[in-house]
Amino acid sequence: MSFIKSFSTVAAAAAVAAVSFGAPAMAKNFKIAVGDSGGSSQEATGLGFKQALEELSGGKHTATLFLNGQLGSEQDTVNDAAIGTLDMSLLAINNVTPFSPTVGVFTLPYVILSLEDAETLTQGPIGQELTENTINDAGVRIIAWTYTGFRVLTNSKKPVKSVADLNGLVIRVPKNEIMIDTYKSWGISPTPMAWSETFAGLQTKVVDGQDNPYTTINAMKFYEVQKYVTEIRYIFSIEPLIISEQVFQELSAADQETILKAGEAATAASAQFLRDKEAEIKQILTDKGMEISVPENNEKEFIDLATAAVWPKFYESIGGIEKLNTVLAAIGRDPVSE
Ligand code: MLT
Repeated sequence: MSFIKSFSTVAAAAAVAAVSFGAPAMAKNFKIAVGDSGGSSQEATGLGFKQALEELSGGKHTATLFLNGQLGSEQDTVNDAAIGTLDMSLLAINNVTPFSPTVGVFTLPYVILSLEDAETLTQGPIGQELTENTINDAGVRIIAWTYTGFRVLTNSKKPVKSVADLNGLVIRVPKNEIMIDTYKSWGISPTPMAWSETFAGLQTKVVDGQDNPYTTINAMKFYEVQKYVTEIRYIFSIEPLIISEQVFQELSAADQETILKAGEAATAASAQFLRDKEAEIKQILTDKGMEISVPENNEKEFIDLATAAVWPKFYESIGGIEKLNTVLAAIGRDPVSE
């Protein structure tokens, strides 16, 4: 038997053994890509995960956060994790949707109306089902959820209180069809742009505005290039921590359990961060000179236009109107009909 043949036979046997009995429990430093900067909700989740991982593994495993998109755009990190060249990534759910369309139900405008809705949905059977779907569709497993708050609209040109006020503004959105169509329902054609390019886009005035939660706007220092905030509440931003399914399957059963438990601790840390910090951060942004407007008529025009145009268009990709109705029922809302 040649060396190569005998080596590959041994390697194959080792692989079978690893699958059957779990790989040897080796210490690992998990590399986590983080789209946002220090001080963000994503960082709070990442630090919560790292701390719990170190405690639960008795110091055997640790994690390193690579903040501010150092490891690539959020959508690119999904591909990297899928092929196993990246361990983990913390990113907005809207940047997972292109790879696993059913998670789009969390990006449909005006479905999630509070942090409590977000917790109920992500931590119950629906979150579990979407986790399974991302494994099958995208080769990544959601192990924690970041609750970042409602995405508010910012721009550098003028106060916006009504749909008509959007006229003339160039708004950046993620490369996400649901978000693009939501702005179209409000009468403007937004500009899809990667998150990693957004600050520069705002600074150079290629785009006038964007939307993201208060904690993100503060962490990313958008107050340096944006003046006006409109408190639209069309998406409650959820940002999962994903692990490469390939990397996860290479871990021993005990290590997999540790990872999942550390993920639960990270989810709890994220909710605590939002509850503790959001109001304080909103005040910081006001102190830095941002002007906050509330949409007229309790946002009715924004809500009516977006739900009428966008929901039906995406029933199929999220798994059918029944899926939306299951989500609405889980948070105590009335069903919709065709
Ligand atoms: C986006 O707008 O692409 C995301 O919300 C960015 C983020 O991860 O905060």
